[in-house]
Amino acid sequence: MSAGEAVLTPVVHTERDGDVLVVIINNPPVNAGSLEVRRGLLAAIDTLQATPDLLAGVLIGSGSTFIAGSDLREFGKPLEAPELPSIIEAIEACTKPVVAALHGAALGGGLELALGCDARVATVKTVVGLPEVTLGIIPGAGGTQRVPRRVGVARAIQMICSGERIPSGKALELRLIDEVVSTDLRAAAIAHARSLAGRKCRIRDEAVLPDDPAVIESAVQSALRAGKRRPAVMAAIEVIQASARLPIDDALASERAAFQRLRLSREAFALRHQFFAEREAMKLPQAFQATPRPVQTVAIIGAGTMGSGIAISALDAGMDVLLVEQDEAALQRGSERIHEYYNNRVASGKLKVDQAAANESRLTPTTDWEQLRRADLIIEAVFEEMAVKHVVFAKIDAHARAGAVLATNTSYLDVDAIARAISRPQDVLGLHFFSPANVMKLLEVVRGEQTAPDVLATGMALAKRLGKQPVVTGNAFGFIGNRIYNAYRKQCEFMLEDGAWPEQVDAALQAFGFAMGPFAVADLSGLDIAWRMRRAQAATRNPQERYVAILDHLCEQGRLGQKSGAGYYTYPDGKRSATTDQTVRGIIEQASVQRGIERRLLSDEEIQRRALLAMVNEAALLLAEGVAGRATDIDVVMVQGYGFPRWEGGPVFWARQQGAAALQAGMDELARCSGGSFVRANLAVLLD
Ligand code: NAI
Repeated sequence: MSAGEAVLTPVVHTERDGDVLVVIINNPPVNAGSLEVRRGLLAAIDTLQATPDLLAGVLIGSGSTFIAGSDLREFGKPLEAPELPSIIEAIEACTKPVVAALHGAALGGGLELALGCDARVATVKTVVGLPEVTLGIIPGAGGTQRVPRRVGVARAIQMICSGERIPSGKALELRLIDEVVSTDLRAAAIAHARSLAGRKCRIRDEAVLPDDPAVIESAVQSALRAGKRRPAVMAAIEVIQASARLPIDDALASERAAFQRLRLSREAFALRHQFFAEREAMKLPQAFQATPRPVQTVAIIGAGTMGSGIAISALDAGMDVLLVEQDEAALQRGSERIHEYYNNRVASGKLKVDQAAANESRLTPTTDWEQLRRADLIIEAVFEEMAVKHVVFAKIDAHARAGAVLATNTSYLDVDAIARAISRPQDVLGLHFFSPANVMKLLEVVRGEQTAPDVLATGMALAKRLGKQPVVTGNAFGFIGNRIYNAYRKQCEFMLEDGAWPEQVDAALQAFGFAMGPFAVADLSGLDIAWRMRRAQAATRNPQERYVAILDHLCEQGRLGQKSGAGYYTYPDGKRSATTDQTVRGIIEQASVQRGIERRLLSDEEIQRRALLAMVNEAALLLAEGVAGRATDIDVVMVQGYGFPRWEGGPVFWARQQGAAALQAGMDELARCSGGSFVRANLAVLLD
């Protein structure tokens, strides 16, 4: 170590650059703001204040980023001093200017710290933001007070309630940062700090930028709508609005109080659980860790709903895409769907013309299977029929180069049966995308019995590249998500026979927080897929099963869902006009009569409890069978792919909140209601 360098804590050290003290935060991987970071920063500010020949300070992160957020693990426990507001107070009280040098991401507490400094210098690639609301809390170190001083109350509400990430160019326009440099950040920040020597420029001393009350009201309403009136959104709006009304110290105190209350709320625990579950799900088990095979060219076979969505996702990620179809007409339809998508993105201002053109230029539609030899990864998305899959995989086997990774997007079929039929089963895995594939984040990565570790690793790396959330699952009917969803939907069908109506079940589950109820979802996706599958399974169905035939009767009457204008609901004027009609009620009542059930009133609580416990039971079975590797993976799947409310953490998190006695009683009830083929799981596997 050279003269002038000092280690303050294991994660913060300082270096002198003449009369400027450079404070370096080194807490890999993302320089999360932890207790040790805060201790180090406080010591550094003390040094700056106490050293007469130091005139200014610079805070900078080492590695790839500034402070990209706080250490979330601390948020569930009593916080240890010094807390972040004290660090910011020390910076503001210091008589010498302090400049934040921001590269990578300055998020959450990282941005709040920067806003407590006298100036912020960033690189062209820096992003800033306050994502706390997405974790069920609000910024607790002045973010809600300093941001409106720079951008106004309305823009602050928009930014903080959405957790928006703002690139440095935009942040400069908004004055959230003061200088953007394309040269050496550290040198620029030191120069900036020197130029401020002898001055303090505290945002706390500025007035809140005035806004038209109508503009504020409109921002409030949009934020409430988009944020579903969750507690953190409501609290954020309140404290941001207080910035224009209260003296800053009072407003800071009420911000801190709301932060302290929210961080220990059940919702915040649930959202942190989901946050960590998502990160964990990205990791392969030790036994499967391997170097992914390199992938630049992806071939997608089948340009239907899924194939075109997957193609867009790969094009957007900068990959070369071959789109392969069985005939020119189908190829044409698929290519047009992709072209239309890019046209719409451009028309709505979401994508620049040249970017859209660049993405589309990497697409090669073809019916020539010879071309497959160019592909590093091939994703099959043809009809959901084993015979068709076999034909297509035989062709893939004939044309793909050695070492290419071969994936199927099947929803239910046996990945091992597909793999075994070709000469290289080790190269095969399932990549189960969700519809629309260019929008939905979830990707189930299906491990077959012979899937090679580096093939699985390639699937995970692909997910990352496409910006997807991968979850590894074993090869079993419906994998994780569809299997749980089926158990849930079946239970909801039981409840129709027991006495509930579709609109009541949907409303109760929407009230719990699901994006849509199960019957509205069924109408949206079409009842005929389930109908076809039920007929295919009829011969092998367990005679003990409680089989609800309502869906079959609806389909027999041509009620296939929204696409036919009627399903569980009738849609006289398009999808927004769902109403129930007597035909459906008649079919449901008839089903109850046939089973000898006297219809009764079901409470919303019973509907929610039975639907959720059906998910929990199936989750425990999946875990016991090894289809799911971790309990938390199940929560990721249900939140990311099936509209389970994120703020409830997922079915496993929900179960863990219920208490043993309530769970036991609920499971007894579930077993009573679910017929002779019901398999009751041991929930202990979920509850550790
Ligand atoms: P789709 O019917 O929209 O598209 C299938 C495409 O495959 C058609 O364009 C067809 O021409 C093409 N095709 C059929 N046989 C072919 C062959 N021998 N060679 C080349 N192309 C052929 O079907 P969709 O919905 O895109 O589903 C495809 C796969 O994705 C299925 O396995 C399905 O289970 C799965 N999946 C579907 C989801 C959905 O929501 N639609 C969600 C997740 C997976």
